[in-house]
Amino acid sequence: MNRFSIKNLKKYFERGGYFSKKDRHLVLNIKSMDIPENLSVGLIGESGSGKSTIARLLMNIIRPDEGSIEYFGKSLGSLGKEEMRDYRQKCQIIFQDPSSQFNPRMNIYEILREPLLINGIDTGVEDRIKQTLELVSLPQDISTRYIHQISGGQRQRISIARALILNPSFIICDEPVSALDISVQSQILNLLYDLRFSLNVNYLMISHDLSVVRFLCDYVYILYNGIIVECGKTSEIFGEPLHPYTRELIDAAMLKTDDNGIFNQKSLSDEKTGTSLCPFVRCPRFNECGRESVEERKVTGTHRVFCNL
Ligand SMILES: Nc1ncnc2c1ncn2[C@@H]1O[C@H](COP(=O)(O)OP(=O)(O)O)[C@@H](O)[C@H]1O
Ligand SMILES: [Mg+2]
Repeated sequence: MNRFSIKNLKKYFERGGYFSKKDRHLVLNIKSMDIPENLSVGLIGESGSGKSTIARLLMNIIRPDEGSIEYFGKSLGSLGKEEMRDYRQKCQIIFQDPSSQFNPRMNIYEILREPLLINGIDTGVEDRIKQTLELVSLPQDISTRYIHQISGGQRQRISIARALILNPSFIICDEPVSALDISVQSQILNLLYDLRFSLNVNYLMISHDLSVVRFLCDYVYILYNGIIVECGKTSEIFGEPLHPYTRELIDAAMLKTDDNGIFNQKSLSDEKTGTSLCPFVRCPRFNECGRESVEERKVTGTHRVFCNL
């Protein structure tokens, strides 16, 4: 069963304003995207491709302009009060920069207690907070401290603890380690990996880093400019990447050093306007393609690619 199922979704934002004429700009155009109940799914794409917009749509913070999002087969917009409460408890989100979402006047104990209070849970609060701090490997005495008194890695553990405190089955992680030092990144990813199996929770892991998703996810969606250009099981995406953008991401993930030992990361150039409907205008084989329109192609039952080549 699909936890989430997106169909024919379009989302527009207004662009411009102060100095230029406002126009409506299509930021997402998703024909179909499913998140099965028992899988962790990765969503990869460069900055501005629409990843956080998908996260906000799934959390029902914003609504689609066209198309539908279903939660266990029922339109997200039509959930009743009880269903909504259940959904709010089961689906949680953590962000790239946790400090901005916490009230600086609350101590850690109060930060962790808040979701319980909002959901009318007032028994066993202390035990629950203790257990949750244990789950994320933080010392109990951290609970009297304030958010500015702890490190970035500890802050991200607090935001994971806050997401876990209502026993969710699904957590959207929007670039959860992008703001952290490399050494802390792997600790947080290992924690998420362990929690996945010990608590039976699944993720939508949003990242621009393919290696994060390879480690944590069963299935991957590659997003480019608001369009899914390729999706498949993680093993299919890494074993047989078909879209030139997917290949570029895999190449870019491998840092190369030149003879002088200087990092020589392949740069991702800016988009230009092309004539084809394919969004990937910087494709190295753009001229070869020569097709005005691109159809989605099924490679296997689970692997799909949006490319003519
Ligand atoms: N509230 C908003 N109003 C106008 N434009 C927005 C808004 N939120 C996002 N956008 C635009 O939508 C596009 C996708 O943004 P986002 O989903 O944040 O991308 P990502 O998370 O992949 O970096 C970007 O071009 C961004 O500027
Ligand atoms: Mg984002």
